[in-house]
Amino acid sequence: MSTKLIVAIDGPAAAGKGTLARRLAGALGLPYLDTGLLYRATARRVLDAAGDPADPVAAEAHARALTPDDLERADLRTPAVDQAAASVASLPGVRAALLSFQRQFGQARGAVLDGRDIGTVIFPDARVKLFVTASVAARAERRWKELAGRGIAVSLQSVTDDLEERDAADASRAAAPLRPAADAVILDTTSLGADQAFQRACEIIDAIKKSAGPAPRTR
Ligand code: C5P
Repeated sequence: MSTKLIVAIDGPAAAGKGTLARRLAGALGLPYLDTGLLYRATARRVLDAAGDPADPVAAEAHARALTPDDLERADLRTPAVDQAAASVASLPGVRAALLSFQRQFGQARGAVLDGRDIGTVIFPDARVKLFVTASVAARAERRWKELAGRGIAVSLQSVTDDLEERDAADASRAAAPLRPAADAVILDTTSLGADQAFQRACEIIDAIKKSAGPAPRTR
């Protein structure tokens, strides 16, 4: 059995997963993978080829053809890519195409990975599983500020609508739906700043490391 530490961080959009995961990876000395980028880069390729993100054959072909450069692109976090990513992510062939890359990434040295199905599908035996969530209002405001900071002017209402639509699609799809793993610890960041969320996550991880089992509440 591998002793390499896997920290699986799942949750809905704009809950603070990425900020937290990156910081935890730094603190733990582990590589970090933002798995949403894989779906975003696949969607970007489909859009660039004037394809349909709901077309399973085209989307899977683009997922299999992803290169490291695709993940470095600066235009992966636009509202159009948000929607197209959720669309390609609902396709089982796309998910299958991206699975082994994610597993190999984590198995090499251990890792912190964030996404929607890390604790349920990619690493169901992960030692640490966090489900990071927050109210829709808090998440929408964070995303809206982030977009505004990047010069993308959209109304708070449209950001809220997009988030709700994407969460509903992620949670209701048949393939690897967004849901907390049974042994995940829920971390609600609605009223937590980034520092507080990080501190709380460190406490949870310390408690898990001290215990013999996968998570405190399962013992
Ligand atoms: O996390 P992020 O918002 O960048 O992810 C973009 C989209 O990719 C999500 O809305 C979701 O549909 C999909 N995704 C997924 N599984 C993951 C990561 C992301 O389905 N592990």
